[in-house]
Amino acid sequence: MTEQSTISADTSAHHMAVDAIRSTALPAAGEPVTFGTHIKPLFRARDRQSMRFAFDLWSYADVKSHAEAIVGQLSAGSMPCDALWPAERVDIVQRSIDSYMSE
Ligand code: HEM
Repeated sequence: MTEQSTISADTSAHHMAVDAIRSTALPAAGEPVTFGTHIKPLFRARDRQSMRFAFDLWSYADVKSHAEAIVGQLSAGSMPCDALWPAERVDIVQRSIDSYMSE
């Protein structure tokens, strides 16, 4: 595999990951936000792998216990450091905190 084809394979995998996240249906206003349907799909495999040293972004219990810190980093734009989240996506995590993650 030439270096060029490796780069293009990585780039297309990255684009696919971003497209998959972009296509994750965000819940409408007033619609209940569920972890499995709305929150977990927002975290890429790369995000999960990178953050396993601290918590598991695909685990409801882990995200619940670190919810405030996670939404803090997301809204500050400091995480994920390679792909800034649009505000409407950060808002979904905040809505889940407001509705059940802060219990
Ligand atoms: C409490 C919240 C968070 C803290 C304190 C935090 C902190 C960190 C730290 C210290 C690293 C560097 C680890 C290293 O050098 O190996 C890192 C890497 C990373 N984090 Fe987070 N993070 C948080 C939340 C998140 C979230 C919510 C995401 C994704 C949505 C995320 C995605 C990433 C990625 C992709 C990397 C790897 C960056 C790279 O190597 O290019 N992090 N984070």
